[in-house]
Amino acid sequence: MTDALKLGFGPFTAPAKGVWVVFCDDHLKFGPATAKALASATGLVARAAKAEHFTGKSGSTLELSVPDGLKADRLVVIGTGKAGDLEPKDFLKFGGAAMGKLPKTTAGGTVFAELPSGAMSAAQAADLAQGAVLRAYAFDRYKTKRKDDEKPPVNRSMTIAAGDVAGARKAYESRAAIAKGVLIARDLVNEPANILYPEEFAKRTLNLKKVGVTVEVLDVKAMTKLGMGALLGVGQGSARESRLVVMRWNGGKKGDAPLAFIGKGVCFDTGGISIKPAASMEDMKGDMAGAACVAGLMHALAARKAKVNAVGLIGLVENMPDGNAQRPGDIVTSMSGQTIEIINTDAEGRLVLADVLWYAAKRFKPKFMVDLATLTGAIIIALGQEYAGMFSNNDELSHRLHKAGEATGELVWRMPLSATYDKMIDSKFADMKNTGGSRWGGAITAAQFIQRFVDAKTPWVHLDIAGTGFDSRMSDINKSWGSGWGVRLLDKLVADYYEK
Ligand code: BES
Ligand code: MN
Ligand code: ZN
Repeated sequence: MTDALKLGFGPFTAPAKGVWVVFCDDHLKFGPATAKALASATGLVARAAKAEHFTGKSGSTLELSVPDGLKADRLVVIGTGKAGDLEPKDFLKFGGAAMGKLPKTTAGGTVFAELPSGAMSAAQAADLAQGAVLRAYAFDRYKTKRKDDEKPPVNRSMTIAAGDVAGARKAYESRAAIAKGVLIARDLVNEPANILYPEEFAKRTLNLKKVGVTVEVLDVKAMTKLGMGALLGVGQGSARESRLVVMRWNGGKKGDAPLAFIGKGVCFDTGGISIKPAASMEDMKGDMAGAACVAGLMHALAARKAKVNAVGLIGLVENMPDGNAQRPGDIVTSMSGQTIEIINTDAEGRLVLADVLWYAAKRFKPKFMVDLATLTGAIIIALGQEYAGMFSNNDELSHRLHKAGEATGELVWRMPLSATYDKMIDSKFADMKNTGGSRWGGAITAAQFIQRFVDAKTPWVHLDIAGTGFDSRMSDINKSWGSGWGVRLLDKLVADYYEK
């Protein structure tokens, strides 16, 4: 994130320059304030719509350059589709689309937050703003040699004209906190692994102290003492030391059991001795997207002062081949006491999660645990980039996450767990092995492995985000490789079901 976007709210006044964004429905109908401000240009818009076959379909756009009768340099009309069935995520999309229409060269944009039926609510105007901020993000801190026309604009600004300006400003506060959480996660995922290794990741989580998160960093010595042989085995081939970060936000009642969020933080995954092929291996700098999401979520919850107790735990390691790296056939002892035969050193994420989940449960006795991990290529084969895989021992928690997914557009799809899959990770030499016998059901056997480290009485969800955490489908609100997936989903879960 480099250039800050200046975002503000104001009254409905036709802009004297820059880009002006307005909304119409699928009957090309404008709201009263918009129609009044467009005044004599209304006919021009109708003509342009006809010429371009613009019908006001949701998210479609019509652009008019230097429109006659208006002071704005460009008028952008965004279709909202059928009025009436708009949801919050639609307003995010509209805000993102509006942001996408601010050309690089000009400074300002004005967005009229109005529907044909009248001014958008304060919440809807604030959703527009959040969408705009998410869209504006670009990770370009390592680009030093751009030509003038490739440079991002400086001091970009967007003013959202709203009916209830003060209300929109207020409603935007929590949404800004959540958006910042998403951008924090994206930044972490986008950073290369020579810059963001476990110690550096841990250091960056210290920034969360500014918003009131307590941060504790456990080093190798501390983890050795705790007996975290599974996590430490993964990191032992790296010149970079492993870390475990515990983040806490106490916004709820004192003594209330916290919600626990656990993230896989493999800062780089070479596969270890079971080394990966070279093609696309660079993507494995994003193998800490689960941990990045947890850090971003902790920011969001604290910055918006969520009335909840939450803990975020992230296991940070680097999986490297080396003289000291663990070998296939090695047997490690996890903190739980269960032994694991390493069949494939590339199935490392589950080893990290095994110890972090166990530790989270023992130390915090949480109300539930949700873990996120870019865990398996198999989940991408199963679900592509549209849904994250969800595995759970609890129907209620799964249902809630499913609902939160539909509301935010960060979708989850439940996958099975069963004793028959569980059997596939029994080992000849130890309590279990770290891969199933074959590639069949690879995302499921990985989840079964993790479940062996979760007490059946603790509601638990595992989200396999290999298809959504990075290099995912671009959208109106995301143009970044690291998507920050999950921050909005989990924030919504907390807000809708766990805050009193
Ligand atoms: N980090 C990878 C999974 C992954 C692959 C995430 C592609 C995102 C994109 C994970 O550690 C891994 O290597 N999994 C193996 C497991 C196998 C060895 C059982 C996989 O999916 O192939
Ligand atoms: Mn791996
Ligand atoms: Zn991995």
